[in-house]
Amino acid sequence: MSVTILAIESSCDDTSAAVCRDGVMLSNLIASQKVHAQYGGVVPELASRAHMQNIVPVVDTALKNANCTLAEIDAVAFTQAPGLIGSLLVGAQFAKSLSLALNKPLIAVHHMQAHVLANLIDEPRPAFPFLCLTVSGGHTQIVLCESPDKLSVIGETTDDAAGEAFDKSAKLLGLPYPGGPLIDKYAKNGDPKRFAFPEPQIPGLNFSFSGLKTAILYFLQNETAKNPAFIEENMADICASIQHRIVTILLNKLKKASDQTGIKNVCIAGGVSANSGLRDGLTELGKRKHWNTFIPPFQYCTDNAGMIAITAYHKFLNKDFADLSVVPSARAEW
Ligand code: KG4
Ligand code: ZN
Repeated sequence: MSVTILAIESSCDDTSAAVCRDGVMLSNLIASQKVHAQYGGVVPELASRAHMQNIVPVVDTALKNANCTLAEIDAVAFTQAPGLIGSLLVGAQFAKSLSLALNKPLIAVHHMQAHVLANLIDEPRPAFPFLCLTVSGGHTQIVLCESPDKLSVIGETTDDAAGEAFDKSAKLLGLPYPGGPLIDKYAKNGDPKRFAFPEPQIPGLNFSFSGLKTAILYFLQNETAKNPAFIEENMADICASIQHRIVTILLNKLKKASDQTGIKNVCIAGGVSANSGLRDGLTELGKRKHWNTFIPPFQYCTDNAGMIAITAYHKFLNKDFADLSVVPSARAEW
């Protein structure tokens, strides 16, 4: 029997719909909300409203791109948690209504599990067990994945996420939101060893980025007091040094996780996996440590419904369905 799933992701500021048949992605459409850029971050109220406007056309187009009709859908999946509650509610209500109207099962998906399982969408796929470093604007976790439904968080941030560290550093440099990709761009022409920012000494596999942010703030205040054009004149080296520190913090913990667990299948997921320093660093470390490394295509790294669809496919095979009383949750518990 063939299984076709329509999945919806609306946890933050991207409205996305995907169609997957027997684990093969037929379409994955993402409508990003531009409205937040002028505010320097996501405005929850505006995000919910934009989801309301986007959801019908996005689902409609995802179905058309997949050459699929609603009559062919065997289950409707949505992101249940975590995220902005108003945003989650839009996707959840839409999915519930559609499941009721089509009389097809409903599948509730955890957003963080989905980021990890994005690695299962395309070849090459990691063999189980594998480790996944999920890094985005909202999350920083190391997850041990033994099977599609057996995941455990073995390390996570105690304060800011890695993407936030990039974005907040960029803001201190006067760069627009989201500044992560801009730091990456400037870093390409800079010297990563020029300015030494501190590596926090956090026990175990957890992360902390707030100290780094404070160190960067004081450093910039100090230097611009001496030379008001300091940032402008040294943008490339500052960005390269910040990126180098964030990447070494991430990779050092990933190395520790692999050493502790003995697992050599190592993946990255989340929007920050686009960072060229992190990608190059993982490849280099992987070669040195004889790891098999995996990074999903970018469209499956940022928030997207494709990752919700692949997770829902595995849940479908396990008959792990939700009933209509299911409610979204802003909180991150698995
Ligand atoms: O996964 P994502 O699209 O959304 C969240 O769930 O947060 O991740 C967005 C984050 C932002 O913080 C953005 O600055 C960061 O990923 N990001 C990058 C790069 N591309 C996106 N950070 C550093 N370098 C990049 N090339
Ligand atoms: Zn995410």
